[in-house]
Amino acid sequence: MASTHAAEVLVASNRGPVSYQVDEEGSLHARRGGGGLVSGLSAIGPEAGAVWVCAALGDADREAARRYGDGRRLPAEDTGGQRVRMLDIAPDVFADAYNGIANSVLWFVHHMLYQTPLEPVFDAEFRRQWASYEAYNRAFAQALAEEAAEGAAVVVQDYHLTLVPGMLRDLRPDLRIGHFSHTPWAPADYFRMLPDDVAEQVLRGMLGADRLGFLTERWARAFAGCCETLPGGVGDTEIGVHGLGADADFLRERSQRADVSERMAALREEIGAAPDGGPRRAIVRVDRTELSKNIVRGLLAYRRLLEDRPEWRERVVHVAFAYPSRQDLEVYRTYTARVRELAEEINAEYGTPGWKPVLLHVEDDFARSLAAYRIADVALVNPIRDGMNLVAKEVPVVSDAGCALVLSREAGAFAELGEDAVAVNPYDVVGTARALHEALSMPGAERAERTKRLAAAATALPPSQWFLDQLRRLERLNG
Ligand code: F6P
Repeated sequence: MASTHAAEVLVASNRGPVSYQVDEEGSLHARRGGGGLVSGLSAIGPEAGAVWVCAALGDADREAARRYGDGRRLPAEDTGGQRVRMLDIAPDVFADAYNGIANSVLWFVHHMLYQTPLEPVFDAEFRRQWASYEAYNRAFAQALAEEAAEGAAVVVQDYHLTLVPGMLRDLRPDLRIGHFSHTPWAPADYFRMLPDDVAEQVLRGMLGADRLGFLTERWARAFAGCCETLPGGVGDTEIGVHGLGADADFLRERSQRADVSERMAALREEIGAAPDGGPRRAIVRVDRTELSKNIVRGLLAYRRLLEDRPEWRERVVHVAFAYPSRQDLEVYRTYTARVRELAEEINAEYGTPGWKPVLLHVEDDFARSLAAYRIADVALVNPIRDGMNLVAKEVPVVSDAGCALVLSREAGAFAELGEDAVAVNPYDVVGTARALHEALSMPGAERAERTKRLAAAATALPPSQWFLDQLRRLERLNG
């Protein structure tokens, strides 16, 4: 297939580095996102001419994709110079692939979220959505095949695009294809829940890559375990582990800006002081409200703490930022509603005129998240299962006076941070309450020492290095 743009490095992900909104006058406005991939890609510099292929996520994105040369390139001023091709995939196909398969099936499988007596049910509707997932993956594979120069390196991201490596290999055998999973991978016994042919398609699609990357050994081993049923197992595909770290330079600079200081002052005001005039402790959590983040059990553990340890009443506040995520899905909306309800219940049960035990905020505000990181006495990160969890890595980097980290042993970050964290089984609410008490009671000097070590571990592999390592390993293969 002829190359139209001949890029040497390509990235493919569902969500791109920019999204659009339409204002009241009908003008398009671009909004740039952050994250590991954005800063990772910036490390190779604009001269590399990397192309990022992503999907239009909503109507405004689709409008932009159509307006700008059929999505071939978004304007550089919208993307900060990054070359971005946004795919205008039919809305119904996109919805089936993204909401139906990626978020309601593959996300559930890898995070082990099903309530199995009643779900999943792989019926005709699932098969219809699966066909859309195939079409969506094909659209990516075709765009990448068009864009890539001879022998180019392509790094495909995440569970949305598991079929792309295999499809792209068929279209362009000359390419070096990598795939990186930002989620956990399901253990073989859970993965087998998928219909056999679908499970095999996912594994074979992934194994179309020369190299597969995972965030931890545990997820890499789980993937290899799933492949044991395939004749030939993982075959020639190399499997590597790259534990994405926090972006220390960015975080340290960003968290010292004036907007963060303003929010710190506002938060301190909201938290208030203990009855004896001393400072009130803050247990902070910051999450996108995903079903895997375990916010509800976090609140139950906090309630247990107030019940079992009355000495903390009026002396602690739980600052919980639960930002909206995937609100097209009913189960996410119901979960968010339960978080709000439980926070209100706790406030009604324990609150006093001068003390609101839970401060819940649901509007996304990055500066306020950084403010909370800076003042947190305890950070609660208790996911049921998580690929990495960057909040656990970011808090120690920006914490002003040291912060005790209560960390789920099921988060990928636990492999690197476990030693200096207070470990919890995310399902054990009584155990989590105990861990919160232990963290709140940790002497200041110990907290500060641990935070230093946590910050060092959390920043061991900055996003730029994380990306470059993968690229170099890929370029070294069959080169
Ligand atoms: O956090 C894991 C992850 O898979 C990221 O890699 C990815 O950006 C995100 O989840 C997908 O979320 P969304 O559905 O909001 O795009």
